[in-house]
Amino acid sequence: MIKPTTFVSCCFLLIVVVLSFSFIQQKENNFQEEKVSDLLAKFSPSSPLHYISMDDLDSLKVRQGKNLVTTGFLNPEDKKIFKSRQSKHFVCTDCHNIQREDPDLKQSNPETRLSYVSEKGMKFLPATTLYGTVNKSHWYNQDYLKKYGELVVPARDTLANAVQLCAVVCSQGRALNEEEMESMMHFLNSIGYSTSELDFNEKEKNLIKTSDDTGQIKELIESKYLNYSPATFLNPQKIEARKYGENGNPKNGKLIYEMSCLTCHQERGVTNYKLNNEQLTFKHLQYWSSTHKMFSVYDITRKGTYSKNGYKPYMPNYTKERMSDQQLEDLMAYINSMATQSRPETKKKN
Ligand code: HEC
Ligand code: HEC
Repeated sequence: MIKPTTFVSCCFLLIVVVLSFSFIQQKENNFQEEKVSDLLAKFSPSSPLHYISMDDLDSLKVRQGKNLVTTGFLNPEDKKIFKSRQSKHFVCTDCHNIQREDPDLKQSNPETRLSYVSEKGMKFLPATTLYGTVNKSHWYNQDYLKKYGELVVPARDTLANAVQLCAVVCSQGRALNEEEMESMMHFLNSIGYSTSELDFNEKEKNLIKTSDDTGQIKELIESKYLNYSPATFLNPQKIEARKYGENGNPKNGKLIYEMSCLTCHQERGVTNYKLNNEQLTFKHLQYWSSTHKMFSVYDITRKGTYSKNGYKPYMPNYTKERMSDQQLEDLMAYINSMATQSRPETKKKN
């Protein structure tokens, strides 16, 4: 027989154990959920200009910044005044995702990205996601200097300038006003990396909690992700070098066609040049692929187009980090399979 007093103290002990366990668990979770920029701020003498801590984020401004990125207006009711839209031609999300798009934040790899975004039902776009852009220290890197020249210099080290450059040059719109920039920064800070995404192991977590060596901790945190988005421009492959889809994977090609090309080229997309799932469209793309003309997918993807007076929409080029040569072959394999099908695919509603 257990004595009632023993029973009570056992219960008491159990409760204490459970409570302290959940307390530890909670502390653990707190560590996991912090924004990386807040964590870094504790170990750095100064923070980047664009930094806003989670505590200072204003939820209204975050919402308005998100509206601006996805619709071109701060507030839904502003839509009545079309003129006030940031760009008549594009919204930021035509070219940039706003969610995480890479399984490994230390790498910019278009192949692992394609499967990652397709699982999440996202797009596969020519520009880098804005998710985690606040965690970077350089923007418009490497070969973008070639494309935009001197314009890039002020945008390379200051996020607000990078945003203005894109608002005016990439989106072919106007610069953001002060209120819009403020909301943009609140939104971008709200989509910075979280510590749970950096996959710290127990030893590293411990080090962060206990070490006095701020330099070492900062280095450890920053070693977990790329602080810039690499960009290598490629020339269109020479006609003799093209494989025209040989060894290409048409399944991946279909993903690229639908999650990338069609997002801009479908009906009501940003351009007058329409692509769809008709056999004729694929025959047209297949026909031009063996040339260096604009309709050749080998050329258009690497070169893009430039905005003209009177017709502003243009196509950004895909860098090596945004689409690999193998992925172009995958796209060609899909184009071939659709061009030679016996019957045009019945139109699907999506
Ligand atoms: C027509 C396509 C397009 C549109 C629209 C567009 N961008 Fe960009 N943006 C680009 C390209 C291409 C780059 C080049 C670097 C990269 O993202 O890989 C870029 C770069 C950037 C960068 C620097 C990214 C980096 O890591 O180097 C920021 C920040 C940015 N854009 C913000 C915006 C915002 C905010 C908007 C909306 C106001 C916007 N962009 C609209 C195409 C676009
Ligand atoms: C961010 C939006 C966007 C994406 C993504 C995009 N395009 Fe484009 N594309 C454009 C715009 C804008 C033009 C400019 C031509 C026009 O509107 O007439 C263009 C032009 C073209 C042209 C040349 C048409 C001409 O009249 O010169 C081809 C071919 C083309 N795109 C194919 C593709 C393919 C294939 C993909 C996918 C790998 C793709 N595009 C992805 C926006 C896009």
